[in-house]
Formats: sequence, structure tokens, C-alpha cells
Amino acid sequence: MTPDELKIAVARAALPHVIEGELLGVGTGSTANHFIDLLASEQLRISGAVASSEASAARLRGHGITVLTLDEVIASGRRIPVYVDGADEIDPGLHLIKGGGGALTREKIVAAASDCFVCIADDSKCVEVMGRFPLPIEVIPMAAGLVARALARLGGIPKLREGFVTDNGNIILDVAGLKISDPVAFESELDHLTGTVTNGLFARRRADLALVSSAAGVRTLRA
Ligand code: 5RP
Repeated sequence: MTPDELKIAVARAALPHVIEGELLGVGTGSTANHFIDLLASEQLRISGAVASSEASAARLRGHGITVLTLDEVIASGRRIPVYVDGADEIDPGLHLIKGGGGALTREKIVAAASDCFVCIADDSKCVEVMGRFPLPIEVIPMAAGLVARALARLGGIPKLREGFVTDNGNIILDVAGLKISDPVAFESELDHLTGTVTNGLFARRRADLALVSSAAGVRTLRA
């Protein structure tokens, strides 16, 4: 199977987790794009979607799916029962690295607002210890140097994502050279760096379920 076929297979496997008539949180990236397209082609009827990026919102709208802001959902007293999104790395505890597409902040917000996070990925994303994929960190532009210096002190090798601005108007530092053996503690440590908006470690709010595709099929991992 090609990498794209693996993404389509796992996106399809997420469809039974969609609750018809309810709201749905929708992530960002190529796997999430396949999921959005399948949601539309399989004509699953949701009452609306909350998107984790402008790109996903545009794709959803392009299929005629209603997109709501998180504030509209909160103000109406409703819940987001399920959030479906991809990942850049998944460890055995279903902690994730996310943000390869630069949408980590909104992804973390939608994940935090959702009851169940269903992560969809092919098995190339599964690792024993996270850190092979450079950890994305969204940073306020004026703090780039300050945060980069602090990250270097923590043992990382930060690199500015050239020519990229997030949906929130910020920059991304991609941090290589990390070996993240305690994701919950490291996420908290990074949260305390002044000038960062969000780090791409999804450890405190990890996935509840990971659907992982390989040539052998799609397997389900539970936290
Ligand atoms: C975007 C993300 C994506 O979920 C992650 O990068 C995986 O993307 P893809 O499905 O294209 O491999 O976190 O910010």
C-alpha cells in the first residue's frame, strides 16, 4: 500500500466513531483531509464541525458541512463528543507529537474541548520514545530568540520554520534532538517557557484511542 492508501484506510476506519446528529471536532493535515472527504462522500450527517485550522474549515465548508466556532458551541451549552485528528508521533501511552502542519494550538484547544480524541495515523508514526520528529512549538514572533535559547538549554536544537505563519499570526520553532521519556512532565516544562503559545506535545490531553493503519489492516490502540 502507498502512504496515501494507508492514510485513506485509517481515515475510513474513523467513520464509525462519528456520532450522527452530533457535533464533531475535525483536525488538520493530509490524513484529516482524507477523513473530511470521506465524511462528505459517505454522507455522514453531523450537526456541525469545529475545525482546528482555517484550511480544514475551508475544506469542510467546501463539502457543504456547517462549521461552528468553539465559542458558538460553548455558548449554546453543547459538547463535542468526538475529535478526529492525525499525529506526527504516537508513543505506546498514546501521547502524541502534533503540529507538523502548524495547527497545534487550535488542535490542542479542540482536543481539550472534546470528550473523546480519536487519533488516526499510519504505523510509520508509532515510536517507543518520542522525539525523532522535531517537536513543533508555536511562539510569539518577538520571543523567537528567547525561546530558542531556552530550548537549547533543555537539550533541543530549535529551527525556525521558514516562511510559515500560523493561523494565529505566530511562528513555529521545530525542535530536533529531543528524547521525550516523560511526555507529561516535559509538556508542563515547555508550557512554562515565556513567549511560547503552545507546544506540540499532547501528553496531558493525549489520544483516547489511536487507529493505526499498516499493510496488515487497521488496529485500535486504547489509552
Ligand atoms: C497538523 C498536525 C497533523 O495532524 C500532523 O502533522 C499529521 O499530519 P499528516 O496527517 O499530514 O501526516 O498535527 O498540525
